[in-house]
Amino acid sequence: MALYDTIGRGYGQRRRQDPRIAAHVFRALAGASSVVNVGAGTGSYEPRDRRLVAVEPSRVMIRQRDAGAAPAVQASASRLPFRDESFDASLAVLTVHHWSDQARGLLELRRAARRRVVILTYDPSFRGFWLTDYFPEILEVDSRIMPPLSELRRQLGRFDVFDVPIPHDCTDGFLGAYWRRPAEYLRAEIRLAISSFAKLRNLEAGLDALRRDLASGEWQRRYGTLLEREAIDLGYRLVVA
Ligand SMILES: C[S@@+](CC[C@H](N)C(=O)[O-])C[C@H]1O[C@@H](n2cnc3c(N)ncnc32)[C@H](O)[C@@H]1O
Repeated sequence: MALYDTIGRGYGQRRRQDPRIAAHVFRALAGASSVVNVGAGTGSYEPRDRRLVAVEPSRVMIRQRDAGAAPAVQASASRLPFRDESFDASLAVLTVHHWSDQARGLLELRRAARRRVVILTYDPSFRGFWLTDYFPEILEVDSRIMPPLSELRRQLGRFDVFDVPIPHDCTDGFLGAYWRRPAEYLRAEIRLAISSFAKLRNLEAGLDALRRDLASGEWQRRYGTLLEREAIDLGYRLVVA
């Protein structure tokens, strides 16, 4: 059973396209008239103006795609059911870290694409997000599952990397989305849409500390200057190979 058959329920309500992040993805896909979106989930970053096929292993996620979304094939990145170079571009958004065989999946992205591979991911060497002061285990979990850029380079060859700053009112509820809305992390329904929280053993200690610091004004004292920022870099990267 695919992991997201368990943790993906309700995903579509909290994990919706952020138009500013989508603009980065769509720019990277410029000129590609056919795209395969691997680990597509509910299809948040799929351009609607070209031929697109979604690949997604979880039925629960496929069922949450809108009626007007591109067709989805239930399959894994490890074995894309397409001939070589079937699409101009392959796309993978916030998904590579979930793949059981990342090297194989990356080779498949390359094999299926004639011209370009576009990946939105997170650089596990990034430091400086305040949330990890409360949940340091996130860094440990990320270092186990997030591919370092050097590993992506090994599999994909030469590529360009673009920073993707996260807007303060990001509409896609992933881990970094609420950096300027710290109390949101205290809400169970927000955490349910963020897979990193499902992996923490020490969740309660972090929640207690955050709750306490928000109530006492300590969070505001330490991180309050962030409240003036519109968007910040949290380590999200767009890789265009
Ligand atoms: C965080 S969601 C991202 C979904 C979508 N790309 C988005 O940006 O909203 C991660 C997705 O990766 C999918 N996934 C997990 N393992 C996979 C695999 N081996 N091959 C392809 N997709 C996989 C999950 O089922 C889930 O839909």
